[in-house]
Amino acid sequence: MPQSNDKKLIFSGIQPTGTFTLGNYIGAIRNWGPLQEDYNCVYSIVDLHAITVRQDPAKLRQNTLQAYALLLACGIDPEKSIAFIQSHNVNHAELSWVLACTTQFGELSRMTQFKDKSAKHANDVNAGLFTYPVLMAADILAYNADLVPIGVDQKQHLELARNIAARFNQRYGEFFTLPEPYIPKTGAKIMSLQDPDKKMSKSDDNPNACVLILDDKDTIIRKFKRAVTDSESVVCYGEGKSGINNLMTIYSAVTGKSFDEITSEFAGKGYGDFKLAVGEAVADHLEPVRTAYAKLIADKAYLKDCYTKGSESAMKITRKVLTKVYHKVGFVDQR
Ligand code: TRP
Repeated sequence: MPQSNDKKLIFSGIQPTGTFTLGNYIGAIRNWGPLQEDYNCVYSIVDLHAITVRQDPAKLRQNTLQAYALLLACGIDPEKSIAFIQSHNVNHAELSWVLACTTQFGELSRMTQFKDKSAKHANDVNAGLFTYPVLMAADILAYNADLVPIGVDQKQHLELARNIAARFNQRYGEFFTLPEPYIPKTGAKIMSLQDPDKKMSKSDDNPNACVLILDDKDTIIRKFKRAVTDSESVVCYGEGKSGINNLMTIYSAVTGKSFDEITSEFAGKGYGDFKLAVGEAVADHLEPVRTAYAKLIADKAYLKDCYTKGSESAMKITRKVLTKVYHKVGFVDQR
């Protein structure tokens, strides 16, 4: 594992909730591969977090393996980065306990995701759902991560992780690095194909609203053909044209063409031609990911080898941190 001392450490956790959307891919995931050159990267499929809502055990196991395979298919190289399954590194849960004792009930009560999720899952407001952000803080602090790539929905949790770290440092002496959010320079926001004023989301009720990165070519093209646009017919970026703006953003992201280039490419052509071209370009762009994924998911032995090595490397880092934490809080040293 070529983790070097002079690079900053990036930690990110990914929920094992099936496949990623085109929005996740363009906005975040495809930028992760290149990061491996400049940072020490640690990626974890967060199955411990997943069980804060009811899961079917067989499905969770399958989704976890799929998410892991997808991470590698998207360019995370297990020789360059540490990629592992969260429950395989016991130190996350252990550190989480200590951090829970430096977190206030009031702080957790203020988390908007807790409020949203407890309203949504009103029949199962379990303690894990409440302490979810503490486990997330443990994920990050166990590596003394410098940077955490997150979307806006996780900003409050990262802020809490910083507060927990700062409080621990104040009580027990400077120790944890305060993690910063990592906002990639590139990374456009991709909107729903059916309601382009809303973010593309896989939980959308309308399956045509969202492209999944493992959708086959025909499905992708069909979804783009049905994309909602406006009543004009000129392919150009502009106010009140959020459907076309979104398609142009997507086309630009996968072809590298500028908006002006796109407008001249489709001059004199209608929206139909443009939608088809976007669908084809997206399908072609995602083809290598689909192929790599199919190969990986068929090779369970290789996957196992990768995630086993991943958790071994992860544990080497976190064991040291945890030993120091245990000493600092006053536990008797083991050896
Ligand atoms: N809560 C994050 C999400 O839902 C997933 C996550 C868990 C995470 N632990 C993390 C993200 C640590 C970044 C760092 O997206």
